[in-house]
Amino acid sequence: MSKEELIEGLNVDLSHEYGAAIQYTYSASAVTGVYRPALKPFFEEEITDELGHALYLSEKIKSLGGVPTTKAADVPQPENVRDLLEAVLKAETETVVRYEKRKKQAEELGFTELAVQLDDMISDETRHKEEVEKILYDERF
Ligand SMILES: [Fe+2]
Ligand SMILES: [Fe+2]
Repeated sequence: MSKEELIEGLNVDLSHEYGAAIQYTYSASAVTGVYRPALKPFFEEEITDELGHALYLSEKIKSLGGVPTTKAADVPQPENVRDLLEAVLKAETETVVRYEKRKKQAEELGFTELAVQLDDMISDETRHKEEVEKILYDERF
């Protein structure tokens, strides 16, 4: 594992944070029906967290000598409520896995502050994931 490989991985993470902000923005506008009053604010609130993660990662990539990406990961555009929630759950689950891996890489290279920050981000993404899981418990979906 080299610093360059770490930077490459962090750029993948950054593109997915931009993607997450887009996904929550899309979801807030796409959610329809009786669940809209509850889910629109829920989706909107997540946008700030994801953009905060993107800001951190972009700064860190530059500090490590890399070039922060300006490209967002592809985001699906489901139309019904269950599919919107399933897509968000999939993205959050994959993000937790990526950050677990990135944290190990950061530790391996001795970047303690990055590893600690990734811990915080794992905590944020796990909270997002668990909230969506709880919403999906509703058997009417
Ligand atoms: Fe995030
Ligand atoms: Fe998230």
